[in-house]
Amino acid sequence: MTARERVAGNVAGYVDDRTGAAKWMKKNLTKVFPDHWSFLLGEICLYSFVILLLSGTFLTFWFDPSMKEVVYDGSYEPLQGIKMSAAYASSLDISFEVRGGLLMRQIHHWAALIFMVGIVVHLLRVYFTGAFRKPREFNWIIGVGLLTLGIVEGFLGYSLPDDLLSGTGIRIAEAIIQALPVVGSYLAFFAFGGAFPGEAFIPRIYTVHVLLLPGIFLALITVHLMLVWYQKHTQFPGPGRTEKNVVGYPLMPVYMAKAGGFFFIVFGVTAFLGAVASINPIWLYGPYTPGQVSAGSQPDWYMGWLDGLVRMAPPLETHAFGYTISWNILIPGLILPGIMFTALALYPFIESWATGDKREHHLLDRPRNAPNRTAIGAMALTFTLVALLNGGNDIIATTFDLTINQMMWFSRIAIVVLPPIAFIVTKRLCLSLQRADRDLVLHGRETGRLVRMPNGEFVEVHEPISAEKAWLLTSHEQLAPLELPEHDGAGVRRPGALKNKLRNRISRATAVAVPKATETERRELEGHH
Ligand code: HEM
Repeated sequence: MTARERVAGNVAGYVDDRTGAAKWMKKNLTKVFPDHWSFLLGEICLYSFVILLLSGTFLTFWFDPSMKEVVYDGSYEPLQGIKMSAAYASSLDISFEVRGGLLMRQIHHWAALIFMVGIVVHLLRVYFTGAFRKPREFNWIIGVGLLTLGIVEGFLGYSLPDDLLSGTGIRIAEAIIQALPVVGSYLAFFAFGGAFPGEAFIPRIYTVHVLLLPGIFLALITVHLMLVWYQKHTQFPGPGRTEKNVVGYPLMPVYMAKAGGFFFIVFGVTAFLGAVASINPIWLYGPYTPGQVSAGSQPDWYMGWLDGLVRMAPPLETHAFGYTISWNILIPGLILPGIMFTALALYPFIESWATGDKREHHLLDRPRNAPNRTAIGAMALTFTLVALLNGGNDIIATTFDLTINQMMWFSRIAIVVLPPIAFIVTKRLCLSLQRADRDLVLHGRETGRLVRMPNGEFVEVHEPISAEKAWLLTSHEQLAPLELPEHDGAGVRRPGALKNKLRNRISRATAVAVPKATETERRELEGHH
């Protein structure tokens, strides 16, 4: 035994004597995880969260969350002598006076954007592969919670510097709170500690941004990962992979090394962006004054869809009993997002209700083999993308020489018309891809070689695919539609008949599929090739 091994052994023994950790470590460090590039998306969220904590802690050393009025006398000449809040002045100081401050601000902002991209793409991977199905519904709901918190946390973050852009965003948030019938104006008054903008809001959101939400994030991410650990990770179907096993590599040493390396890649990319790509140049916007807004004001991308919805809302208002209800803010700012996030959180339950499938699933679906789910996803994405596009309607209008009205009318019509089209096109595409899979299994791969037959006919030579690939293309399940009874034996409608009829209908739509190739069909056709 070398000296180094002896020292390592002594340290491990010392710790084990006091904690009894060896047994637990032995069991868990050899835990096997499946391997697929898309499983790295969750890790990107995790690592950018760590980067956010580290860079954010650095920023707290110099940021002053105060609305006290000061006169700027820092090194950025265009703003010298201008009155502003201490919050804005300290953000300028971090950018120009503190060594490495601008780099840290930019790393922090880039990390936030990557965090949110990571969350959304990770969500899409989980959705389109059906990883949210039993037993992972709770983890899906925790995920929706993390997404919502991420949006709020990012918004609060870019509201802190109290520059003209962030103040404009806060003003919109105030309008959304005020739009709540009856209690809205009181709530806004409480949140701002008086009339907008007041002195209290920035210090308050600072505490929420650096203490409350990160704490909740840490707790939720811990539970999220413990559930992944406990329930085991899903895997794509493949040779030897079943609903009961996990095929992959052990955590130690393979994933420890991979994850460690990947953390530094994510950190490296974020630091590179922070170093070379300017983001949120607050000195160009100037301090916030409620009477001003600069042209081309844009929120961060994960807020853009909400802004886009508000921008396209028609001017609807009701006046009743001395109250004004601003539907033009209430619907796009609260009701629609409320419906969208509730539907997202409940989706696993809605799907299992529609298909009647209450079993556990540890093998993932290929998106084409769940056409309805994939089409619903495409529909929701199209809706969100149209809204996001309209969030930049002013920039798009000036860039492409359009009017704001043209953009607005395009978005108003597109947000109603395009999502159903996306649903239909995606569903047809999935079914076509299923048909292509079926052809591939039965007739083999097209080789591109044309052969002339003795009778003059030209045919293309097909090559059979490997048994492994054929198995992969046919291993998925095709659920039969539900047939819940609507009438009893005597032909009389049963109680709950309407509900059963609805479920039967939905389940029939969900179960539409091109029948996969069977072994008998394959054998029968083998003679022909
Ligand atoms: C702070 C944000 C988040 C972090 C740090 C995070 C982290 C992770 C990690 C590391 C994994 C395992 C690797 C992988 O499958 O990618 C995972 C799995 C999972 N995540 Fe997330 N996640 C976050 C947000 C979300 C969101 C927004 C959703 C969905 C709404 C979600 C749902 C899930 C589910 C269902 C699994 C299990 C997947 C499986 O076993 O295949 N997560 N998460």
